[in-house]
Amino acid sequence: MKGIVLAGGNATRLYPLTATTSKQLLPVYDRQMIFYPLNTLIKAGIKEILVIVAPDHSGQFLNLLGSLFKNHGIQLLFEVQKVPAGLPEAFVLGENFLDDDNVTLILGDNIFEDDFTPDIKNFQSGGKVFATKVPDPERSGVVKFDDKGKAIQIVEKPKKWISDFVLTGLYVYDNRVVQAAKDLKPSGRGEYEIVDLHNFYLEKNELAVKVFDGEWLDAGTFDSLLEAGQVVKEKKLFENFDPIINKAIQEFNEQLKKISKKILS
Ligand code: DAU
Repeated sequence: MKGIVLAGGNATRLYPLTATTSKQLLPVYDRQMIFYPLNTLIKAGIKEILVIVAPDHSGQFLNLLGSLFKNHGIQLLFEVQKVPAGLPEAFVLGENFLDDDNVTLILGDNIFEDDFTPDIKNFQSGGKVFATKVPDPERSGVVKFDDKGKAIQIVEKPKKWISDFVLTGLYVYDNRVVQAAKDLKPSGRGEYEIVDLHNFYLEKNELAVKVFDGEWLDAGTFDSLLEAGQVVKEKKLFENFDPIINKAIQEFNEQLKKISKKILS
């Protein structure tokens, strides 16, 4: 299993904050947002991770993450997405990195309270996605279940209500997803759609949808960004970090302090 964090996009809703940095590098309580999705992957034992970033912010990602895990057995690679053409591009850009392996994709702005380690570790084939109930399903990819709890329909931001359950930004797929992503056509809104990949597996009866109850934060607006920090603090979600991440950040901070002392003396 390999991991991809998709951390590109323009985040225009967060201007002027994102005029100078990437959304995924904005702080959520005591660390940059991207550490939360990285944590989901690292906790699940994934050792090879591709971070996909926007061209304007590639240097900042490299400064923060470029050497961070090198002494911790985790290899981070970087890829630039020139234009935010849609989430499935992650698999196209990641084709060589993935080789024949399965993949867990996580969006760089998705923060989860739950630990999905067993789902990722025990994954065999097909697709596995994660749904939760929200008050505003029209903002996301929506999944409808039948009476027995089986997923029967998945639609991106439906104009007409079909269900309160949305598919969050964590996706586990087998390697067929690469070819499926390459075969996609852009949707009416001119983007490659992740729901088309869910449907690729749903039509084959190979899509597992797990419903979860824990916090899911998608920090894409001023309010949700603020709320994310508050929830992390109040629910002590910072305690969920893998020791590797805490150690790596601590070493990084110490190194920075040393460098700044040297410059001053
Ligand atoms: O957060 C979960 C939702 O994410 C899903 O329910 C939807 O099915 C899925 O389409 C997506 O919807 P969003 O409206 O949240 O997508 P957005 O365009 O905001 O992109 C999500 C993140 O991915 C964002 O942090 C920017 C990044 N991104 C997005 C695109 C389209 C990229 O890095 N590259 C891209 O091409």
